[in-house]
Amino acid sequence: MNNPTKTQYPTFVTRGSTGHFIDGGWQEAVAGRRMDTRNPSTGGILTTLARGDAADVDRAVLSARRAFDGPWSRFTPHERQALLHKVHDFIDQNYDELALLESLDMGVPLSRAQGFKQNILKCILFFASQTMNCAGQTIPNSLGGKYTTLTLKAPVGVVGGIIPWNGPLISQWWVLGAALATGCTVVMKPAEDASLTVLRTAEFLCEAGLPEGVVNVVTGLGTEAGAALAAHPDVDRIAFTGSTDTGREIIRASATNIKRLQLELGGKSPDIVFADADLDRAVPGAAMGVFSNSGQVCFAGTRLFVERTIQHEFVERMVDFGRSLKVGDPLDPNTDLGPLISQKQMERVLDYVSVGDDEGADLVLGGNRMTGDVANGYFVEPTIFNNVSNTMTIAREEIFGPVISIIPFDTAGEALALANDTVYGLGGAVWTRDISTMNTMMHGIKAGTVWVNCYGLIDPSVGFGGYKQSGYGWKGGPQHVDAFLYQKSICINSD
Ligand code: NAI
Ligand code: MG
Repeated sequence: MNNPTKTQYPTFVTRGSTGHFIDGGWQEAVAGRRMDTRNPSTGGILTTLARGDAADVDRAVLSARRAFDGPWSRFTPHERQALLHKVHDFIDQNYDELALLESLDMGVPLSRAQGFKQNILKCILFFASQTMNCAGQTIPNSLGGKYTTLTLKAPVGVVGGIIPWNGPLISQWWVLGAALATGCTVVMKPAEDASLTVLRTAEFLCEAGLPEGVVNVVTGLGTEAGAALAAHPDVDRIAFTGSTDTGREIIRASATNIKRLQLELGGKSPDIVFADADLDRAVPGAAMGVFSNSGQVCFAGTRLFVERTIQHEFVERMVDFGRSLKVGDPLDPNTDLGPLISQKQMERVLDYVSVGDDEGADLVLGGNRMTGDVANGYFVEPTIFNNVSNTMTIAREEIFGPVISIIPFDTAGEALALANDTVYGLGGAVWTRDISTMNTMMHGIKAGTVWVNCYGLIDPSVGFGGYKQSGYGWKGGPQHVDAFLYQKSICINSD
């Protein structure tokens, strides 16, 4: 396999001397422990990370608190905006290293990681624009003329960002951007399998002029560093992205000091293709709505409802499309899909494939770990099950791998009922040329985002969030920024 030799790795990887990023510099874990992080395309150890626990989280939270009460609190909104513009330019100029790190650490094709650049820059620009929107209102009252009433906004304080491994380079910005726009400070806990771009970004932010302690990173396991951050009495808000089960743990831990929460959790999103759809767009659109990032996407459209009259043709075309995808070395520019993040995740996905088989779904493509020159990596073939029923395990549980379940339907009413028969509600899509069908689905699908004749597009100005067990709180849009602010009512007696 055509991987770079060690000498081609960024120095950030080869120097192997990073620890936690606290108070503007590197710190070893208090207990002196380290852990390996792997390159999932080879299975080899990429580098080691500090393995933090409650003592490290204490140090990072203290640093974030000092910065919040100290230098950072004196930044005006205009200065925060100027800083975010500087950060934007800095990331713009140094992006190639970040893209390579992300690809090595989590296996995303390098071309895809490079493609994220514009999304990240747009995200930073959006949050820069929001620094001016941290505003209260003057509100007329019923108290009488001598009273003036108004509302003020103030940053909530120290924010803990706990994020998963499926795209930390981009997903960290939903926390960092809102925090920097509002004047909060941050302790990030990236996933143990993909921490490098979060560490490097924190270092970049300081190089771009962010005061020390505003953004800190503690690496470590979820049950150690993550749990300590979620329960920490001096953390005011947690922004969490990950599984619904861990989301429940976060809710419990937040009870210690009634933390503000934003939770973006699992999904089992419906993607509905009607017989009148433009299949030239629907086939690749629906396929990549799952296969992108090898299926490790929270809003992947894994339950693919197809109108029965086109099922045969659709499945044939889908299988052809799946076969045409090039799975392999993430650093090869022709690669479409990389590996899964870890051995554990690969085994989990392969387990679901055998459960699908056992429960009677028709496996029409893939289903295996890949062999040959990628045999050491955690590669799973693009996989399609046909004739799945919405009650089967593979249609109910989040798989987080390149596995599509095709479920036939006869009427729009049936499709909608099945689409909503899930505990999740993150995304959903409809492919049709009929405006009335579009309207019914757009209003009827119980999910935070519905795409029509497209899939997976997210814009920072609009944002996204979930219904039901996909979580609460909104990422992006003005309401995201507002959730990082306290509101205070002021009543002035001018007598
Ligand atoms: P996870 O939800 O446990 O991990 C996400 C983050 O939470 C990581 O940073 C982890 O270190 C941290 N964490 C874990 N336990 C914690 C705790 N008790 N307190 C605080 N933080 C904690 O997900 P995991 O185990 O990596 O993946 C398992 C499955 O979860 C996947 O197969 C997938 O189905 C789902 N998942 C869904 C995601 C989504 O965005 N919808 C993202 C990641 C995983
Ligand atoms: Mg890794």
